[in-house]
Amino acid sequence: MSTTILEPAAVPTRRTPVHRTVLMCRPDHFTVSYRINPWMHPQVPTDTALAVAQWETLYNTYLGLDFDVRLIDPIEGLPDMVYAANGGFVLDGIAYGASFQYPERQPEGPAYMDWFRESGFRVVEPANVNEGEGDFLLVGDVILAGTGFRSDSQSHTELAEIVGREVVTLNLVNPSFYHLDTAIAVLDPVAVDGHANIAYLPSAFDEPSLRILRERYPNAIIVTEEDAAVLGLNSFSDGYNVVIASRATDFERQLRERGYNPIGVDLSELLRGGGGVKCCTLELRS
Ligand code: ARG
Repeated sequence: MSTTILEPAAVPTRRTPVHRTVLMCRPDHFTVSYRINPWMHPQVPTDTALAVAQWETLYNTYLGLDFDVRLIDPIEGLPDMVYAANGGFVLDGIAYGASFQYPERQPEGPAYMDWFRESGFRVVEPANVNEGEGDFLLVGDVILAGTGFRSDSQSHTELAEIVGREVVTLNLVNPSFYHLDTAIAVLDPVAVDGHANIAYLPSAFDEPSLRILRERYPNAIIVTEEDAAVLGLNSFSDGYNVVIASRATDFERQLRERGYNPIGVDLSELLRGGGGVKCCTLELRS
């Protein structure tokens, strides 16, 4: 019997999907009736049925990946509730509630906290403005935290105390990429060989934040302005399958090269509210 010895360099990175549990909110009441980010144009009518159909494609994609998908009931008059990522930040069974910057979205905070409570999570009411997973991204053991447009940097300190993890503050500078999850994609939800990787858009950050990103993630994927402009970074990965905007074609190519399996979905109608795949997805980590 002969044994074949493979050179380590010849072995492609084998990526393993990790089971995910997420919370979503069907966009039954979706519309754009106010403007709190540059993507929103309230004077242009929206197609709620199309938004629902596109959202269902995302929902079914997650079911197809064997994710556990939980649902929160949409509330009339809260059109942005579909962007579940902003509803809080959940880690180790603790749900740190959201406190929204703009009055239009403020009632969503308590609505999501009620859902967390009823679903068995320990809810911590926030003392500072923060928009949940829109600005908090868990990468391995570290939480990257955005500020500049929405979440107050004091919420970063607050979250660090609550969950006992390192929280790294990053400053966002481009109003089109107002939440951290529009400027960074987490590629590895759990660290592989002690390392978890990201993809990001350099121009969305100030120089000190860029230095941090370059130092911590030397192998990060750098996406094009074109891909970022369709919210390509606003994606959701299980460590192998990466659900992305179908129009982010160069990001798709780069993911494939690195051994990931990109899956494109079209959320163009929801993009008119300024959100994409990740915005519609809140991770529940029990
Ligand atoms: N219209 C919403 C807002 O401006 C979009 C939220 C997008 N969510 C996200 N996680 N980036 O607040």
